Amino acid sequence: MTAQLIDGKLIAQQVRDEVAATVAKRVAAGKSKPTLATVLVGDRPDSAAYVRSKGKACEELGMGSVSHHLPADISQEELEKLIKSLNDDKTVNGILVQLPLPSHLNEERVLQLISIEKDVDGFSPINIGRLAQKGREPLFVPCTPYGCIYLLEKSGVKIEGANAVVLGRSNIVGMPAALLLIGKNATVTVCHSRTKDLPAVVRQADILIAAIGKTEMVRGDWIKPGAAVIDVGINSVPDATKKSGQRLVGDVNFNEAKEVAGFITPVPGGVGPMTIAMLMKNTLRAAEIQDK
Ligand code: GUN
Repeated sequence: MTAQLIDGKLIAQQVRDEVAATVAKRVAAGKSKPTLATVLVGDRPDSAAYVRSKGKACEELGMGSVSHHLPADISQEELEKLIKSLNDDKTVNGILVQLPLPSHLNEERVLQLISIEKDVDGFSPINIGRLAQKGREPLFVPCTPYGCIYLLEKSGVKIEGANAVVLGRSNIVGMPAALLLIGKNATVTVCHSRTKDLPAVVRQADILIAAIGKTEMVRGDWIKPGAAVIDVGINSVPDATKKSGQRLVGDVNFNEAKEVAGFITPVPGGVGPMTIAMLMKNTLRAAEIQDK
């Protein structure tokens, strides 16, 4: 192995410890407990597990959480009513609507409705619009891309002037990651399913963010020697040696890439734990903004 392992679990724990310490201080000073409201629609097991972990993290860091679990067939009107009531609720600092929503619901209208000061996921069009504009600052940056950039910076990877390649253009990861990298003066290429000669484009990357959702698609010989590789993929593959019968792997073939890269995140234990850590940081920030 030549690459330095970027330990997301450790770095996420450090972020969580900092958040917990700041929360304890503000509560001791008589200020409110930062509180996150989660909204889960339907019964997708992955979404339910993510929402549970978010509530648990709040508890562990001394923050409050309220969870709203709505039936899969809820109407747009009912969901919007809940969002409006959470916007008006002074005891709620952050609102997180777990995505994806069932297909009959209009996600854009829901995200647009979340008060910008409570938009701890950073998905409202105002926050994303600000992220996309020079000289404007979003109130909140989407948690997974925020975690990716945080891992790069903590590991001492120089972003300014680097050639960065982002694999995937999703609203949740790829697109905001590209915008953040541009804001930090990287030269950014965004690749997707129609990109021609993907390996050749990836070989130019000093920084690679892989968020395309394809099991171990990025091979070792796609990696530029010394590159920083951030693997956002979480894919289950069958593994008879595990009790669960499966294991998680990323979008990058780790065993190959680690022999070429300068820095690499493992899966699991890389980007995954960062998403919730950054959400906690955003929720604390929301409470601080609302103090004013
Ligand atoms: N679904 C997958 N990732 C996320 C996330 O970061 N936030 C929300 N709300 N939904 C998601």
